[in-house]
Amino acid sequence: MPAIPHGGSMVNRIVPKAERPLLVEQAKRLPPVTLDAWSASDLEMIAVGGFSPLTGFLGSADYASVVRDMRLQSGDVWPIPITLPVARETAAILGEGATVALRSPSGDLLGLLEVTERYLYDKEAEAQRVYRTDDPAHPGVARLLAQGDVLLAGPVRLLERGPRPFPDLPDEPEVVRQEFRRRGWQTVVAFQTRNPVHRAHEYIQKVALETVDGLFLQPLVGQTKGDDVPAEVRVRSYRELLQRYYPPGRVLLGAYPAAMRYAGPREAVLHALVRKNYGCTHFIVGRDHAGVGNYYGTYDAQTIFTEFAPGELGITPLFFEHTFYCRACEGMASAKTCPHGPEQHVALSGTRVREMLRRGQKPPREFSRPEVADILIAGMAERVGEPASSVAP
Ligand code: ADX
Repeated sequence: MPAIPHGGSMVNRIVPKAERPLLVEQAKRLPPVTLDAWSASDLEMIAVGGFSPLTGFLGSADYASVVRDMRLQSGDVWPIPITLPVARETAAILGEGATVALRSPSGDLLGLLEVTERYLYDKEAEAQRVYRTDDPAHPGVARLLAQGDVLLAGPVRLLERGPRPFPDLPDEPEVVRQEFRRRGWQTVVAFQTRNPVHRAHEYIQKVALETVDGLFLQPLVGQTKGDDVPAEVRVRSYRELLQRYYPPGRVLLGAYPAAMRYAGPREAVLHALVRKNYGCTHFIVGRDHAGVGNYYGTYDAQTIFTEFAPGELGITPLFFEHTFYCRACEGMASAKTCPHGPEQHVALSGTRVREMLRRGQKPPREFSRPEVADILIAGMAERVGEPASSVAP
């Protein structure tokens, strides 16, 4: 039985094709608000139903209760405020009750917002509550501190999705649900990821898959911090890995268009709810899910799930300990399943792996599949502007 969307029904804020020409015409006379990539992806996530039950950017009452209690006014769990920040000067010229045209930085019309409210908010308080830190070095906090001082709220309508970087990868809940139905999957485990795939990822995905009908791999392809590996390279590695090491009938590769917040525990809850909207029944939460630096404890993103009553989330989290390859066990393991010491374990930090890849060096095959390492090395080289062929094997 596919999961019921959060809040009970799937939100759809996409303007039907037949109504578009008239609205596009009208939008020419509406005041414009320019959305950056982050806000544009939020608009899309709301419109396609990925953020159900949200129908627009949060008003002040919902905002306050989400920041404070991780709940919407309705009582539904919602851990991260989805807001539209604008500069004071922009807000000043927009009247409440006005409809504004949401545009891309190049002026393309994306959608419409009916402004029901404009309000000031406390960035430090949001940082402390949502990110558990107000350190400006935290990438999510940095964004928060740099963004506009006024939040615009109200229901949105989407006229045009921006260019999709991976048109062949399903990224809308209804499309994904339909594919699950076509495949006859009753139970599906979702996997969120923003990093290059490694053996520990593969292991926890496959262990989870042992107990359900299908695996939905949904790498985040929205905005990430500058030193994360670009989505294009990550998706290329996934395609290669799936072809070689996964049974095609059991795995669906999709894309998650939202921006990465790096909010650790709260973002883990958001990721779970969103995957429920995509129709998944289970969600993988491993070590330091959605974390960055040392802001969160290794398992904080798991313990946060105990703050909700059973059934409130409507998706079952599957928790995994830190996993690694153990030379003595000759296989993937975790502290739960392996009696050997760290000297037997192949575990590398993300920074160390990036350094190796940048030098054209493959991480050990117990850490990274060689085919994936090749793609990552080539991808890193493209990034620094060198031809891939100049990279050592
Ligand atoms: S995340 O920001 O999207 O969480 P990443 O792509 O690294 O980053 O992780 C995807 C998922 O795999 C998360 O649930 C994370 O907790 C889990 N994970 C990553 N590495 C490991 C590991 N070595 N052991 C267990 N879980 C892991």
